[in-house]
Amino acid sequence: MAYGKQVTEIYYGGDYNPEQWSEEVWEEDMRLMKKAHINLVTLNVFSWAAIQPSEDVYDFERLDRIMELVRKNGLKVCMATSTGAHPAWMAKRHQDILRTDSDGMRHKFGGRHNSCPNSPTYRHYSAKLAEKLAEHYRGYDNIVAWHIANEYGGRCYCENCEKAFREWLKERYGTLEAVNRAFNTSFWGHTFYDWDEIVIPDLRSEHFRDGSGSERTMFQGISLAYERFQSDSILACYRLERDAVKKWMPDTPVTTNLMGFYKPLDYQKWAKYMDFVSWDSYPSPDDLPADCAMNHDLMRGIHDQDSFVLMEQTPSVTNWQPYNRLKRPGQMRLLSLQAAAHGADAIQFFQIRRSIGACEKYHGAVIDHAGRSDTRVFREVASLGAELEGWNGVFLNGRTPSETAILVDWENWWAVEYSAGPSVLMKYMDAVKDYYRALFDQNVPVDFIGVDDDLSRYKVVIAPLLYMVKPGLDQKIKKFAENGGTFITTYFSGLVDQDDLVVGAYPGKLSGTLGIWVEENDALPEGEENSFLWNGKRYPARVLCDLMHLEGAEAICRYESDFYSGTPVITCNKVGKGNSWYVGTRSDETFYRDFLERICEDAGVKPVMETPEGVEATIRRNGQTSVLFLLNHSGREQTVCLPWDCCLCDGSCESYPAGSTIQLGAYGGEIFKCQL
Ligand code: GLA
Ligand code: ZN
Repeated sequence: MAYGKQVTEIYYGGDYNPEQWSEEVWEEDMRLMKKAHINLVTLNVFSWAAIQPSEDVYDFERLDRIMELVRKNGLKVCMATSTGAHPAWMAKRHQDILRTDSDGMRHKFGGRHNSCPNSPTYRHYSAKLAEKLAEHYRGYDNIVAWHIANEYGGRCYCENCEKAFREWLKERYGTLEAVNRAFNTSFWGHTFYDWDEIVIPDLRSEHFRDGSGSERTMFQGISLAYERFQSDSILACYRLERDAVKKWMPDTPVTTNLMGFYKPLDYQKWAKYMDFVSWDSYPSPDDLPADCAMNHDLMRGIHDQDSFVLMEQTPSVTNWQPYNRLKRPGQMRLLSLQAAAHGADAIQFFQIRRSIGACEKYHGAVIDHAGRSDTRVFREVASLGAELEGWNGVFLNGRTPSETAILVDWENWWAVEYSAGPSVLMKYMDAVKDYYRALFDQNVPVDFIGVDDDLSRYKVVIAPLLYMVKPGLDQKIKKFAENGGTFITTYFSGLVDQDDLVVGAYPGKLSGTLGIWVEENDALPEGEENSFLWNGKRYPARVLCDLMHLEGAEAICRYESDFYSGTPVITCNKVGKGNSWYVGTRSDETFYRDFLERICEDAGVKPVMETPEGVEATIRRNGQTSVLFLLNHSGREQTVCLPWDCCLCDGSCESYPAGSTIQLGAYGGEIFKCQL
């Protein structure tokens, strides 16, 4: 379980930055935190300049006082290493720490999350600071985890990165011949004869901006390699700090706060080096409840623990969106319950007290500028805190029982979106959402899995836009279907290998399992569509229409217009005891709903239960205990009928026999123990 096996309470709290305040304020904060039932603070996230004022001086005196105070007040600590923003003096003395953008612009000091991951200075001082902190604070048994840096991300295109990139290529490919092959450099005569001829793919070399301002590439192979290399470089910084902390506190779990479907970092690879996953959830006002849940499910799925910590969420409002809408009364509680439903073992906020200056001064906090507890937000935070205490850890260690999985792969995501053609409208996340939302709306639990995961645990596996098929994956999919599984993939799948090189006739190594040959792909501009009929209903075909031939599969639907009218658009191939489906186009919400309802029915995948539109039902199961979360994401009251004997988890244990109805207010939610 996140934060360690022995933990029996639900941790509740968040980022606390007392270094921005005088000490009288600290005492008041302690009082207010108790009132809000807060039991954990994340400390020291941005204090590097304060604790290392120069090269050889470390000054922990103020942090010591903070640590003493929080320990005296019974608070647990998630201890950050402060390396998310380097000090000004370091940038002045060691310019290699500054990042360079893709257009060659070298940064000056400023902002945060801005250190070059291949800077010798950054690597040296960040790991040293992490080690000093762990050595100094190892005696505090209220430190329940280490939080390395903060929201790692971004890219650097500096000369140190260029040198390191060549080394990374040597390591991965061994010889220049292999690099030339992988990048297909015989195209446009880009052959390399010396390692030093290889330069970074950026706006000065292989990259350019298209009409919409997006950065695109002329050589996918090298650009894809650079994505991998940068994700690995940043991971190396995390690992250096992690190992430094482990020298002194080997038993304390280490994490860093991730960001859900964040494209630049291959979190499936990162999770292997994290003791538990933690992530920051900041849905934008137009995100659907399914979109929030999807990120939680991904974060749960990248780690074997099957759970995570909600490291940050705003209690009320953000500051960085164009319009920062308030969370409506009840919404913060609802989103916290939703996180718990999808695997969160702890609920935390950014932040406890609002700053008075700089860009986050209008970001929501538990304690706002008025410094009072009689605010709507404080009351909601305190009331959720009391509820969490009442639930007494009921869902901790619970797992989500999913029979359906969506296969995602970061490297595939990079490759799909670097592709020059067939369509700029082809977005990996859109394809993932098409399938996820339809399952979510039917209360079908979903796991996100990667190419290395075991497929045999599932009845249905969906791999949207599986453009890149890595070695062995085709065999795994075949076996899964042969053993009775239902496999679904989409247009533009199976085309390339792990280096983004086309493997032959499409869909490459998936051809046999899918029983089709895709001859061409027709990209339809925005607003244009083809169509197809399924069970008497008409659905649109948009974005990309694959033109294919049957080679063993059965055509389930056919295009209705254009020169390929009458040719297959959706096919199903019998493979051993199972089926493998190809959906050769992008359709609409209604299609995905109808299609997946049918797929689930045929595969014997049952929804958790029936609920009215806008109400989510999700289960976490721990041995014999099943905890049901009923969440009303709509802004109006809703009635739900319970299919099993249930009792409320709030300590009242009020029981509701099967068939009882319950009322959920606008943005309301309840959690029950139930007998399935
Ligand atoms: C991120 C960061 C925090 C803070 C919040 C504001 O999640 O980790 O430090 O900047 O955003 O929303
Ligand atoms: Zn760099």
